[in-house]
Amino acid sequence: MSIVTILRRETGGVESCEQTFEFDKSFEGTVIDLLNELHGRETLTDATGAPARRICFECSCATGNCGACAMLVNGRPALACEVAVQEELRRAGELKLAPLTAFPCVCDLQVNRGILRDRARDTGLWLTGQAHEAEDGFFSACLQCGLCAEACEKYHSGKFDAPCAYAAADLVVALDGEDNARRKAVRKALKKPFLCPCKTISCESACPQRLPLRQAIKRIGGSLFSL
Ligand code: SF4
Ligand code: FES
Repeated sequence: MSIVTILRRETGGVESCEQTFEFDKSFEGTVIDLLNELHGRETLTDATGAPARRICFECSCATGNCGACAMLVNGRPALACEVAVQEELRRAGELKLAPLTAFPCVCDLQVNRGILRDRARDTGLWLTGQAHEAEDGFFSACLQCGLCAEACEKYHSGKFDAPCAYAAADLVVALDGEDNARRKAVRKALKKPFLCPCKTISCESACPQRLPLRQAIKRIGGSLFSL
């Protein structure tokens, strides 16, 4: 048998603890397939044989298209439905799952990414009629998965918004740039300074959609700075 270790926390709890589960050594599938397999067991017991409560996690499309299953797989921000269990075991020699740390934990692997929606609302993105038809298609491409925030050191320090928020703002300004009131609202919505001091582009490496976040942050920074 193989082992998966899951960082668990009860709804409303503050303490987390690891729990291990056994699964078939020849299991073929993704991390989400494995979580669904554990979820579907008639009685869930941990690796010691003790009864365990159902595991909370989010999954919708299971094809890398919705962002719901974003989590840490062996410490790396990833979409769980895009990580093959056997490949990960071969690569890391173990399989450890934990919730994203950039957002409040709701329960086990489920987090509350509402702040991403709040930023999109505050920047007025949803009022930008043409957003979905924009040539770069940013917003329809962004999954709001939060992996860029998880990978961003500045976001964790509380001094910077999620990279996707700046990129969304960049789209709003690109589409409604003539509207000064809109630009001012965007400026107010984002944390300052707008300029990203980081050289790692870890947000771009973590983004499953490979969105040009660095370029967007640079552009929006320059544009709002002059207001
Ligand atoms: S920009 Fe990329 S990593 Fe960030 S929320 Fe959107 S899809 Fe996810
Ligand atoms: S479940 Fe939709 S991206 Fe993984």
